[in-house]
Amino acid sequence: MSTHNVWTHKGTFLLAAVGSAVGLGNLWRFPYLTGENGGGAFILVYALTIFAVGIPILIAETMLGRASRRSPIMGMRHLTRTHHASRAWESIGWLGASSAFLILSFYSVIAGWAIHYTWQMLTGSLTGADAETIGAGFDALLASPGLLTLYHTLFIIASGLIVGMGIHRGIESSLRIMMPSLFVILLVVLAYGIANGDIGAAASFLFTFNLADLSLEGWLQAMGQSFFTLSLGMGAIMAYGAYMSSEASLTRTAIAIAVVDTAVAMVAGLAIFSLVFGAGLGPGQGPGLMFVTLPLAFAEMPFGALIGGVFFILVLGAAISSSISLIEPVAAFLVERFDLTRPQAVTLMVVASWALGLLTVTSFNVWAEGTLFHALFGRSAFDLIELLTNIFMPLGGLLIALFAGWALTHSEVMKEMRTSEAWFTVWRFLVRFVAPAAVAFVFLRSIPQVEGYLIPTIGALVIVGAFAAGRTFLVEPSQEP
Ligand code: TRP
Repeated sequence: MSTHNVWTHKGTFLLAAVGSAVGLGNLWRFPYLTGENGGGAFILVYALTIFAVGIPILIAETMLGRASRRSPIMGMRHLTRTHHASRAWESIGWLGASSAFLILSFYSVIAGWAIHYTWQMLTGSLTGADAETIGAGFDALLASPGLLTLYHTLFIIASGLIVGMGIHRGIESSLRIMMPSLFVILLVVLAYGIANGDIGAAASFLFTFNLADLSLEGWLQAMGQSFFTLSLGMGAIMAYGAYMSSEASLTRTAIAIAVVDTAVAMVAGLAIFSLVFGAGLGPGQGPGLMFVTLPLAFAEMPFGALIGGVFFILVLGAAISSSISLIEPVAAFLVERFDLTRPQAVTLMVVASWALGLLTVTSFNVWAEGTLFHALFGRSAFDLIELLTNIFMPLGGLLIALFAGWALTHSEVMKEMRTSEAWFTVWRFLVRFVAPAAVAFVFLRSIPQVEGYLIPTIGALVIVGAFAAGRTFLVEPSQEP
């Protein structure tokens, strides 16, 4: 059974995909990674991968969704049948569903921290606080399983309610209110940063390139980030693409998504570093940048409590518009495959992911370093889950690029892309060779054991892999008669 659902407007896919893409990745992860990796050089590599790898895979993933008009798992099943390809490609759907489930479990816990900070800011409890107090406050939050679970529960319920109300009444209508508000808040925070912070220092930190500053590690993180921030490789975009109007241009939409997503990351980076530098603080805080350094900057500035509160509402909104796109692909699958009602399907997904999220909660306290869990797995549950998603997402993206690049026929792709023959050729070259190579690079890096053999292995692997995938898995050649 296909879903038959289509977004109300031609432009809704763009809205939904931007909602998915803009999230903790832009506001939390991008600034701290940039801060840790020396600024401009990191951004240069990040922007290059967005265009050479991100956009082509974004087009590929949307294409698979729109061509099948089904949830990722059922959609891939359908496409392998109609293209006489091996059913092994269905793993794209399964990998995606697993990643969605895993990502949601920890995404919700971290988004929950933003609930805490919204509250702390708006009640003024941090006004005038010093570095030690704010650092201790963050540590105390992480040390409390009860508090973390409470916020995690609130966040995941809110996300579930939106998806449970359906793609029109739930997802579309909430995004239509949320996304414009988020852009306004972002601009307000930027204006505040310009007025109270050191925007010049922020701009020169972000836009002065010195490639020598960037380690190999930094390169890989930049590529991984460009992937994460576009929500690629795990079926979210495919699920939304299944509802996309056949009339909208894929190429133009994908470019628009990437441009908006990148612009949001840059503006957030400018605003955050302007405040951080203005308060005389350092950029290299790591994950604590948003939850320790930034509240500290707000604590010292006029109206800091109010703007800080508004900023954390922005974080929450961006996180929710992403988390709903994590629920949708799995819920749509359960509805299609098992004939559940949408509320039942959403409940199933959310409850399971919520339970898994408890493992992330415990990683910061009862099962932190030095406990049995750590001893057994060599890392916290949170790190383990993150490691898994860091493997599944790129792997999903790799397979999506290969399938779209080798299995779909020329006329199918042209029908979806609606571009010139020249663009088609560029795109196909990118998804067949460049994107798989780049993704394999990031992917292999995420498996710690292969680190030493990384570079020599990759070239061979990718070329062999691309051809093997193209020829062996496809019973019929992908060319048209
Ligand atoms: N793009 C999201 C962000 O920047 C994070 C993310 C990664 C995501 N993969 C996803 C969100 C899949 C939704 C679906 O925060």
